[in-house]
Amino acid sequence: MKKKIAVLFGGQSTEHEVSTASATSVLKNINRTKYDVYPIGITKNGLWFKYTGNLDNIESGEWEKDESYKIPQGQNILFNKEVDIVFPVLHGLFGEDGTIQGMCKIFNIPCVGPGVMSSAICMDKIYTKYLLQKFNIVQADYVVINGYEYEDNKDAFLEKIEKKLGYDVFIKPSNGGSSVGITKAHNKEELTLGIKEALKHDRKILIEKAINAREIEVSVLGNDYPEASIPGEVIPAKEFYDYEAKYKSEASKLLIPAALCASKLQTIREQAIKIYKILDCAGMARVDFLVDKQTEEVYLNEVNTIPGFTKISMYPKMWDATGKNFETLIDELIILAIERNNK
Ligand SMILES: Nc1ncnc2c1ncn2[C@@H]1O[C@H](COP(=O)(O)OP(=O)(O)O)[C@@H](O)[C@H]1O
Ligand SMILES: [Mg+2]
Repeated sequence: MKKKIAVLFGGQSTEHEVSTASATSVLKNINRTKYDVYPIGITKNGLWFKYTGNLDNIESGEWEKDESYKIPQGQNILFNKEVDIVFPVLHGLFGEDGTIQGMCKIFNIPCVGPGVMSSAICMDKIYTKYLLQKFNIVQADYVVINGYEYEDNKDAFLEKIEKKLGYDVFIKPSNGGSSVGITKAHNKEELTLGIKEALKHDRKILIEKAINAREIEVSVLGNDYPEASIPGEVIPAKEFYDYEAKYKSEASKLLIPAALCASKLQTIREQAIKIYKILDCAGMARVDFLVDKQTEEVYLNEVNTIPGFTKISMYPKMWDATGKNFETLIDELIILAIERNNK
């Protein structure tokens, strides 16, 4: 009998729209001779839809207009064990952060990608830093701000940041993605505004020294013996890779392999696997680095446990360049999820 797989899309995060694009390409490339596919849409308000309509209506948001697909309360397909596997093609909070992974774990359903703890740590940029620091992984210098402490100690925080990091700096919500809430500050005024903006998205934020860097990414796949793809490079169309440069601008460029010498590429691949293992990732992750343009020093930037999956996204493209096409990749991810669940 064919295994039943739920492909979750949409979701309650700021990356809802990115997810619908990613899920559309996953749904179009999943092997239907092997799997019975259940596309499950999650609205921004957290309602679940068992969507059986046209796949071309997912990205536009049209799918949620037909209420007949809505799953009645109390009949969640995971609770009811209607499916054998879950592929959460959800980015950001309530999807990439360990919450859906926890739900699957409670109902003993294999779930594609890293487990609860790994997902939660990778989602949280501050905790990723804390943990990797212990293993001497090179990362940009930073300062952490808790929202509740900031208002009463603004000057002290600003002074600390200027003293420790200088300018330019990046200001980021600790839990976020797709550059939402992230700004670059070149002076105190922008820093103050950036902190205010980031605190709208999260109660704890990270101020990071800006590295004059090239952005190098690596796709990692596997459980106990992960493999790394050929590293790729993104060349943002704007000053940094913000939401617009990522999804709206045609001018951002992707380069696979990244234009670095063979030994540097090899070092970065090995570093990606090392980081993947420290963070206890499973299934997949895309490990993003910043490589200093002058010194070529390699800094870890962040780890994405449910990376973009659109046809033009780096994760599948880097695998394609390494000899694994989209369809094979999806199949391997599902097999890895089953394998990990059985342990
Ligand atoms: N320390 C830094 N130095 C230089 N550029 C950075 C730094 N941190 C972030 N950026 C830029 O901002 C973008 C988004 O930051 P990132 O930490 O990757 O957040 P997200 O999870 O939203 O992708 C990066 O792709 C890069 O262009
Ligand atoms: Mg990023």
